[in-house]
Amino acid sequence: MNSYIDKVKAINEKRETPPLAHVHNYGCQLNVTDGEKLKGILFRMGYGFTEHPEEADLVIFNTCAVRENAEERVFGNLGFLKHYKDRNREMIICVSGCMTEQSAVVDKIKSSYKYVDIVFGTNAFDRFPQFVYEVLNGRKHFYDEAGPGKDVSEGNEQIRSSTFKASVPIMYGCNNFCTYCIVPYVRGRERSRQPEAIISEVTKLVNEGYREIMLLGQNVNSYGNDLADGIKFPELLRRINALEGEFIIRFMSSHPKDAGKDLIDAMAECDKVGKFLHLPVQSGSNSVLERMNRKYTAEKYLEIIDYAKSRNAGFSFSTDILIGFPNETDEEFEDTLEIIRKVRYSNIYSFIYSKRTGTKAALMEDETPYSAKQERMQRLLELQREITTEDYRKYIGKTLDVLVDGPGKNGEGTLTGKSSEYIIVNFAGDASLTGRFVKVKITGARNWAVEGELV
Ligand code: SAH
Ligand code: SF4
Ligand code: F3S
Repeated sequence: MNSYIDKVKAINEKRETPPLAHVHNYGCQLNVTDGEKLKGILFRMGYGFTEHPEEADLVIFNTCAVRENAEERVFGNLGFLKHYKDRNREMIICVSGCMTEQSAVVDKIKSSYKYVDIVFGTNAFDRFPQFVYEVLNGRKHFYDEAGPGKDVSEGNEQIRSSTFKASVPIMYGCNNFCTYCIVPYVRGRERSRQPEAIISEVTKLVNEGYREIMLLGQNVNSYGNDLADGIKFPELLRRINALEGEFIIRFMSSHPKDAGKDLIDAMAECDKVGKFLHLPVQSGSNSVLERMNRKYTAEKYLEIIDYAKSRNAGFSFSTDILIGFPNETDEEFEDTLEIIRKVRYSNIYSFIYSKRTGTKAALMEDETPYSAKQERMQRLLELQREITTEDYRKYIGKTLDVLVDGPGKNGEGTLTGKSSEYIIVNFAGDASLTGRFVKVKITGARNWAVEGELV
């Protein structure tokens, strides 16, 4: 790979001004991390960066396949790129990411988006410099169809968008095959990074001043299942917690089927681990959970939550809800509202089911009209708004530890940040506090945020 990086760099250095690249990420935090790695490679090849695709010499659309609307946005935006390329014939257009792991997508690009130069998957970063080199040397197209990865790639330094928050993938892929989900098909099977590689990356980040470390995996609870030395996720948390420095550890996502007391204990006992558990339930109905192949029941899920609550460590919870899985009935949806009432999440990410070709659920007939699904979404959002507003009141009078994200929406002198419980906290303060931990005494609660005063 290095030789092609140098070859592209040599070409770029002959130009009067350095060429510019634009990378647009469409997906989850892992997708954003991939985009940061691609920027690292582009930088080493001599590219600068621009936020504006129209002035770029090389554009990467780093795509997501999880829902149809994410894919539609990519195809829509590719249409715009055509106009830019008409003005700048030299522009190199690349499509990467999860969408490109589906052969139907690659076929569509080949036939209808011929001005796309390079298509490459999440497993082809090491070969990306070669693709660019060949296109710069007149090759018309490069379509990489190697399929999703089978190992873990190390050593691609990221160009991170934040100077104080860093995502660190601890594993790639997924083995769970929830019947609605495309991720196992586009990301391949689970494989864990070596704990030493993770720990040395975190150590380096903390030494560089990063204050939030987000550990990423599709199911962090199965971290280490494929490693010889048998280290499991709670142990990894404890090891990272033991590192020197002032930082907060977060992670996502946890699959409820594998979340046990050992995870909750590690979270409660590790002072650097945020007291926030994102535990995607998807549905509160056992029959739907079974059709989704989630491998737990609502009762088993509530056991974990109740255990976490019983530790009195100040945990807050969030979840993902999939609304309108094929033939979800009104009664089944009521069970989802019921579990939301029982857990009292601080936040919910809800999605209307989107059919993904290749998954088992795509073969299921679906009698439920879309309008019913939209109504369910409205009811869920209303319920959650009530719960959040009421729940956030419990913080009034308390002092929370907050990592400052930057200036707030209310203009100069206002700041916003997130507490250990992952609650948005707004308060007055100077922008120089961005990226620092502060203490804020909470004075009020609003929709989706609390407000307070610097202590
Ligand atoms: N591995 C994570 C989730 C990754 S995808 C986990 O299991 O929690 C993030 C969320 O997207 C999922 O939790 C699910 O709620 C949603 N999602 C996945 N497939 C979907 C589909 N076909 N349609 C709509 N939402 C979907
Ligand atoms: Fe998709 Fe299920 Fe894997 Fe999450 S655990 S990525 S929802 S298959
Ligand atoms: Fe992430 Fe979307 Fe791929 S959610 S793993 S970018 S399909």
